Amino acid sequence: MSRFFAIVPAAGSGSRMGAKRPKQYLELAGRPMLWHALATLTRVSRIERVCVVLSPEDEWWEEFDWQPLAERLQVLRVGGSTRAGSVANALRVLAADLAAEDWVLVHDAARACLTEAQVDGLIEALADDPVGGLLAQPVADTLKRSGADGRVAATVSREAMWQAQTPQMFRLGLLREALQAKPGVTDEAGAVEALGLCPRLIAADATNFKLTYPQDLALAELILRARSEA
Ligand code: C5P
Repeated sequence: MSRFFAIVPAAGSGSRMGAKRPKQYLELAGRPMLWHALATLTRVSRIERVCVVLSPEDEWWEEFDWQPLAERLQVLRVGGSTRAGSVANALRVLAADLAAEDWVLVHDAARACLTEAQVDGLIEALADDPVGGLLAQPVADTLKRSGADGRVAATVSREAMWQAQTPQMFRLGLLREALQAKPGVTDEAGAVEALGLCPRLIAADATNFKLTYPQDLALAELILRARSEA
């Protein structure tokens, strides 16, 4: 029987947030942003262990109390210079005690509003899949491509277009091979696609957005507070 593990790359600087500390440590609903995704993933019963990938130079982690999550949490200070590098380094560590067929769910630290139901739905849909897949959302807006002058150069059809989210769920052996072959990707699915495989798209909703800009904090705070009051 394959087992399930999660990797949360959190070794980025989050420069688009324009803050002094890396965005994963900004305060969100009374906790560091990173807490929320880790807490959700550690509550998913089928996930055995959640590995958080920090930069070797990270000086923020120790500032907070992670004890309530510690039972299922593993801290890996093996972050690389890119997101794909951070994930590949974590996979190398995990390969020591996981089987190539075990499933790995990679989730952005900055998608703080992830829910257990979304993760359960992903696992349910993909547990017997030959390739794996990802949470994603069909594009609702009309898409524009910009020209160099900041004006619209073209309207791009939104038909069959999806926004990729995370978690992205693949078997450890396949994901290692894919990231070794294609280290320049911005998500795991991109590396798997480059092997000629077609990851499955599992529809999620907009609440699983990636906190990127300062105004995203207020929206995430509203979502998290509304849930905790419900
Ligand atoms: O910057 P962006 O939001 O696209 O990063 C996505 C995720 O990848 C974040 O959780 C970030 O911390 C992580 N990352 C990483 N190592 C890097 C760059 C980004 O773990 N070198």
